[in-house]
Amino acid sequence: MGSNKQDIAVSYDVSNEFFRLWLDERMNYTCGVFDGQEISLEEAQLNKLRILSGFAHVTPESTLLDIGCGWGANLEYQALVNKVKAAHGITLSEAQCAEIRRRKLPGVNATVRSYLEYKPPLKFDAVMSICMMEHIVSPQEAREGKSIPAYRNYFRLVHEWTKPGTYFGLQTILRNFVPRDRQDVKDVGWVTYEIFPGGITPRLEEIVAAVNPYWEILEIKTRRLDYQKTTWHWRDRLRRNEAKIRAEWGDKVFDDYDRYLSTCVRGFEKHYQSLAQYSLKRID
Ligand SMILES: C[S@@+](CC[C@H](N)C(=O)[O-])C[C@H]1O[C@@H](n2cnc3c(N)ncnc32)[C@H](O)[C@@H]1O
Repeated sequence: MGSNKQDIAVSYDVSNEFFRLWLDERMNYTCGVFDGQEISLEEAQLNKLRILSGFAHVTPESTLLDIGCGWGANLEYQALVNKVKAAHGITLSEAQCAEIRRRKLPGVNATVRSYLEYKPPLKFDAVMSICMMEHIVSPQEAREGKSIPAYRNYFRLVHEWTKPGTYFGLQTILRNFVPRDRQDVKDVGWVTYEIFPGGITPRLEEIVAAVNPYWEILEIKTRRLDYQKTTWHWRDRLRRNEAKIRAEWGDKVFDDYDRYLSTCVRGFEKHYQSLAQYSLKRID
């Protein structure tokens, strides 16, 4: 179902040092929140983490789960800014988990595990998941009409792992218009199969259908232009490091990532993709 461990290694295990060169300093690999202001990528990423923490009603008493925790940007924020009691993260990437352990964050525990096999050590009272649902179904499974059942199974599992009254701060990319321009069709397909194999972004209506009967949607905020700006910043930082990247990881890595990020900037502009943040409350 969706991206397996080998697929995830293609997407996230190029090298931690490579991603460190062009992501923000905490290594968020998801949309930041600019809200139309001239602020840095670092500030935009902190805005995103603050908003989603609010959606998940995080407090210092929280025992939080971060599903698809990346290199630990949110776990770091929860441990050091919100000072939660405990923060657990799961990722399918060995390289990401190694980076989280290297940070030695107080109260943070990270494991390499798929959500499909995860056995939580306790019941959580706050959940966050920032752009992991894009890995739940493959393009083939989406064509076979398997998306909503797979997303519903994900929401069922998260419901099982939590205490009554839990809030869930969720963020996902959205699939909107179908590209018609010949080059866009090629590039969007190439990003889907070569950069993020095994996954496809959900449609808003699929998420809205799949949360039932487990989670009530309290709020949805879309942020298409925030993601366009985030990917623009990533490409700008990538290009500033072109010589180093070509020397250390080869021409193909630089050219592929430049093409991928350029496709994202264009894709958000042309409504092929958008972004949504959701505040969900457990139905008890
Ligand atoms: C785009 S990254 C986002 C990382 C992080 N949330 C952030 O904001 O930077 C997607 C994350 O989902 C994780 N992931 C993908 N499939 C998964 C699965 N089946 N179980 C757990 N994590 C998964 C990846 O390993 C990666 O950490």
